[in-house]
Amino acid sequence: MSITYSHQLPPISAYFDLFSTTGWNRDYQSTARDLETALQHSQFLVCAYQEGRLIGFGRIVDDGVLHAMVYDLIAHPDFQKRGIGSNILEKLLAYCLQKNIRDIQLFAAADRMEFYKKHGFQPRPDNAPGMELIKNQIMRRINVQS
Ligand SMILES: CC(C)(COP(=O)(O)OP(=O)(O)OC[C@H]1O[C@@H](n2cnc3c(N)ncnc32)[C@H](O)[C@@H]1OP(=O)(O)O)[C@@H](O)C(=O)NCCC(=O)NCCS
Repeated sequence: MSITYSHQLPPISAYFDLFSTTGWNRDYQSTARDLETALQHSQFLVCAYQEGRLIGFGRIVDDGVLHAMVYDLIAHPDFQKRGIGSNILEKLLAYCLQKNIRDIQLFAAADRMEFYKKHGFQPRPDNAPGMELIKNQIMRRINVQS
């Protein structure tokens, strides 16, 4: 199986299909155009193709100096556990190291912690966790209070 890697924007319908395999879009409800905008505003993309078919993806959003975030690391379910996710992640990390970025962060799904630990990531300390604010939850809170 020959896999090729590209850093160009993928065909957006192919990306939408790949993204949909994760189940994330049940919550996000993003359109293909939304996803394209997110990719266009990323600093670095890695696409994995087999015979022209998009089967893997990952991207970096960074400030060029201090912080970078890994987003949307995906291997198509038919192609998982063959090293493609690791290859993409290593390419993302190499980009950040080459730019000398201080730290690289990500959100790990509960069952993906060991995978990321193998690539050098460590969970943040319990007394300094990552936190997030999700727009829809805030909107619901405001509606409840008003
Ligand atoms: C997370 C994800 C990107 C990993 O992609 P992947 O291509 O399966 O990753 P790899 O093949 O490099 O590694 C996965 C496992 O397969 C193992 N593996 C790699 N090559 C292998 C091979 N040839 N034979 C058997 N096992 C192999 C790895 O050791 C790794 O083991 P681990 O899960 O115990 O760490 C993929 O599971 C995915 O897309 N999941 C859905 C989306 C998602 O959850 N993304 C991450 C959000 S935090």
